[in-house]
Amino acid sequence: MTDMTAPTIAVIVVAAGSGSRLGHAEPKAFVPLAGKSILERALEGVLGMRDAVQLIVVAPADRLAETRQISERAASARFDQLGRSDAAVVVVAGGATRQESVQAGLAALSPGIDTVLVHDAARALTPSAVFDAVVETVRASAAGVLPMLPVVDTIKRIDHAGIVHETVDRAELAAVQTPQGFPREVLVAALAAASANDIAEATDDAALVSASGHPVQTMGGDPLAFKITTPDDLRRAHLLLASDVSAASVTPAASAAPRIGTGMDVHAFDDTSPLWLAGLHWPGERGLSGHSDGDAAVHAICDALLAAAGLGDIGGIFGTADPRLTDAHGEVFLNETLRLLTEAGFRVGNVTVQIIGNRPKLAPRRAEAEALLTRLLHAPVTISATTTDALGFTGRGEGIAALATALLLPVSAQAAVLSWEA
Ligand code: CTP
Ligand code: MG
Repeated sequence: MTDMTAPTIAVIVVAAGSGSRLGHAEPKAFVPLAGKSILERALEGVLGMRDAVQLIVVAPADRLAETRQISERAASARFDQLGRSDAAVVVVAGGATRQESVQAGLAALSPGIDTVLVHDAARALTPSAVFDAVVETVRASAAGVLPMLPVVDTIKRIDHAGIVHETVDRAELAAVQTPQGFPREVLVAALAAASANDIAEATDDAALVSASGHPVQTMGGDPLAFKITTPDDLRRAHLLLASDVSAASVTPAASAAPRIGTGMDVHAFDDTSPLWLAGLHWPGERGLSGHSDGDAAVHAICDALLAAAGLGDIGGIFGTADPRLTDAHGEVFLNETLRLLTEAGFRVGNVTVQIIGNRPKLAPRRAEAEALLTRLLHAPVTISATTTDALGFTGRGEGIAALATALLLPVSAQAAVLSWEA
């Protein structure tokens, strides 16, 4: 009976080489790369694939236990993240050449596998999307597939003495990478044929598949799939990871994220004052008490904005002792709040405020109020209103409450925001 959940794709990661050109004491796959080993970085790329895979890691014979540990750690970290637990990891010992190591990996294929990718651990930064694309192309073409990049340098054919003989037309050349993907039978047959013919030194798998008469097609590779071969390559990988880390590290990412804040305010009705609400004067309506004009909607908005920016609240910024604020209207509060936000590196994304009370009826002047506040904050402000079904102080007509939510954007993230015409 077939197990429908078993993976049909295998990825063989060859990591059994010594890394003689890199020149470290440990085998290349175990050389540290920004806090992890080259191998672990490479496995993270594989494990980020869309589909579940059988992962076969080919390691130096004397490093099998360590390889198992690294592989299991990478697999469980990745599967925690993806919320799936379909890890199928096998670790086997490699051979004296890359080709023999691939052969050892093939011997560990599970029965249900129909597509095999072979990948150099040394291409440690290869993005997961490259693996997915290779799988797709193999399945669509039923051929071997290799990712490649065009050759950008001028290439010369030289002899052993370093004498130049000719310039090679680079339009006919490609720099090939891994992962290379194949239908299972094609790859297995090609390697069997090579060892039967005593060929043991192929540096990639497509060479053997081509030699066995099967088609191999190319697809666009990725510069990040470069092979760490020399100390310069390792430095480049370090630099790439360092710039990646700084782009994603907590502080800059946090400061690039939008921020929200909420604010609420309540004022009691006061028949001796005119009503100012949402920045507008409402003739004939009962006023609200307060040191300023008692505009609960504007005060709630200011609190939401200040909270989002981490600048405290309206009481802390606008002291009641300040004579400039006696009977001050919303515009004064909003302008000063906006000035503080701008200084702190934010702009307003949008604001919404809900007015809670029996009167005034908002609907006839909603558009007017929204336009005014939108103009003052240079960002969309929307206003809604509700009653509390005759319950509580608002229901009894003792006062008005307002509840605001504000979204702030760091100035550097402005490009991501749609513009708003008031
Ligand atoms: N590889 C392998 N078994 C071998 C030789 C190589 O699994 N006997 C693997 C390497 O670990 C590497 C990939 O094949 O991930 C590509 O090989 P290369 O970059 O040449 O690595 P090394 O052979 O380790 O390096 P060098 O040639 O500099 O010694
Ligand atoms: Mg080698």
